[in-house]
Amino acid sequence: MNNKYKMITLLEGIKVTKYFGGLAAVKDVEFKVGEKELVGLIGPNGAGKSTLFNCISGIYRPTSGTIKFNGEEITDLKPDEICRRGIGRTFQLVRPFLEMTALENVIVAARFGCGTRTSLSDARRSALDHLEFVGISEKKDKMARDLTLHERRFVEIARALATKPEVVLLDEVLAGLNPTETTEAMGLIRRIRNDLGVTVFWVEHVMKAVMGTAERIMVLHHGEKIAEGTPSEIVKNEDVVKAYLGEKYLF
Ligand SMILES: Nc1ncnc2c1ncn2[C@@H]1O[C@H](COP(=O)(O)OP(=O)(O)OP(=O)(O)O)[C@@H](O)[C@H]1O
Ligand SMILES: [Mg+2]
Repeated sequence: MNNKYKMITLLEGIKVTKYFGGLAAVKDVEFKVGEKELVGLIGPNGAGKSTLFNCISGIYRPTSGTIKFNGEEITDLKPDEICRRGIGRTFQLVRPFLEMTALENVIVAARFGCGTRTSLSDARRSALDHLEFVGISEKKDKMARDLTLHERRFVEIARALATKPEVVLLDEVLAGLNPTETTEAMGLIRRIRNDLGVTVFWVEHVMKAVMGTAERIMVLHHGEKIAEGTPSEIVKNEDVVKAYLGEKYLF
């Protein structure tokens, strides 16, 4: 292990396993995410990436294994308790309140997102700041149903950030974005870590983006972690190439 990984562990999984009936969607997965790291999580469709995020954020209770945050076990906590501890997330399928404006959507997260009530005026100020941070403040009064996919995703990120997390779990925030929007989103993900000091754990299929942005990558395949390392180590890893990346990445 090189010096870069001598980190303070923020989020940790020990033998995390989640079964759906007889299917192990996540199996004995061990992971560590350090304070202020920007870590990518990749793997084929159905590899268990979203399930792992759902276990971390309390949507699913793992069948077995332990999840720790800041050294404390959070495995059996409810989603709002986990959020309140400082774990924010986005969802693979964006689901804003369609009949609310972009700003109102973020206000709801700022005010109630983690189960703690913030005053309306503080929540409004925080929501405006976060819409500004993600770069769509000029769309603040648009109804969510009238926003483009790209704008909805950015509202989703603003909502996650408005809960004031220490770590944010981003689930495929680049899916369906065009190349310009993708570049913009990559810059945003870097700024979340660099400017806000928020740790980022990020599931992504857009390889160019995740390889060019994340400092460290973990790879899931059939629910198991098959590799982890720097992007340059991962693109050369034969198991990863075989399971997921394909020959074009082997150089
Ligand atoms: N609620 C559920 N009930 C039953 N099976 C599920 C459930 N959620 C996920 N699965 C199954 O668990 C496996 C892992 O799914 P998951 O959504 O975690 O994969 P993923 O890596 O996020 O895939 P993708 O890249 O397509 O989003 C799949 O076989 C999926 O069908
Ligand atoms: Mg998924």
